[in-house]
Amino acid sequence: MKDYLDSFKLTGKTAVVCGGLGLLGKEVSKAFAQAGAQVIILDINEDEGKKFQMDLSRQNLVTEIISFDITDIYNINNNVQALFSEKGSIQIWVNLAYPRTKDWGKSLTDVNINSWQKNVDMHLNSYCLLTREVAELMKKKEILGTIINFASIYGVVGPDFEVYSGTSMTSDPTYAAIKGGIIAFCRHSASYYGKYGIRINCLCPGGILDSQNPVFIANYERRTPLRRLGRPEEVAMATLFLASDASSYITGATVMVDGGWTCI
Ligand SMILES: NC(=O)c1ccc[n+]([C@@H]2O[C@H](COP(=O)([O-])OP(=O)(O)OC[C@H]3O[C@@H](n4cnc5c(N)ncnc54)[C@H](O)[C@@H]3O)[C@@H](O)[C@H]2O)c1
Repeated sequence: MKDYLDSFKLTGKTAVVCGGLGLLGKEVSKAFAQAGAQVIILDINEDEGKKFQMDLSRQNLVTEIISFDITDIYNINNNVQALFSEKGSIQIWVNLAYPRTKDWGKSLTDVNINSWQKNVDMHLNSYCLLTREVAELMKKKEILGTIINFASIYGVVGPDFEVYSGTSMTSDPTYAAIKGGIIAFCRHSASYYGKYGIRINCLCPGGILDSQNPVFIANYERRTPLRRLGRPEEVAMATLFLASDASSYITGATVMVDGGWTCI
């Protein structure tokens, strides 16, 4: 009989979590480590890396942290090739780094063209180029790998600006262009690499509870069918599913983890 629980384990696999020291990346890295993967975190935040390693060692979990800047897009191929050469085989790759310019978070009419271009280069273009290079190396090495790109509800639907009322927050329009682009490219690359057994999926979180303005939280809760924001661990569980053999027939999908935000 098939051991279904075994399909969710990552034992014997190497998983790269690119942006793994952020709110969601840390939880994804923990989930992967618990599931038995050898986890490699790529990130630029060295201080956070040291703190996270201490936190993990208290839980008897191990990850390796390597300094890696995804915005260095002209060297992405070399940098990823170097990592594959050093590690041998990488079966799981997650893109969830969140680079943004200092003026990130402007409204539609206020975004300037330089920031727009920079953010698209740093976030959309880096995710796409990383996906292509990782998939190419998996293909060459005949690895039946899986790549998960983080998008967002805002790559699928427009914002309901009412959730920002009573706050100084808004949704940066560049985010919609970036996340919509990531979802479209995910479908394209999933179709292209499917015949090599490489799966490429998008995961779209809704709003995740962090330390947002309480007015925003109340507005967001009212608008969401499950009446709350998400938790990082809920995103990590869905990522683990997409990374594991439990999702072996899923590719090119846009998986919503949004408390029902996009169903209404
Ligand atoms: N948190 C949410 O509510 C939410 C909702 C929807 C989608 N998302 C998406 O989930 C992903 C993760 O979001 P998060 O909230 O964990 O972000 P975060 O800002 O908490 O973490 C992002 C991580 O990326 C790293 N990073 C930034 N620039 C980098 C670079 N140039 N190279 C390598 N690493 C870099 C940061 O150091 C940080 O560790 C993003 O793609 C984001 O768009 C988040």
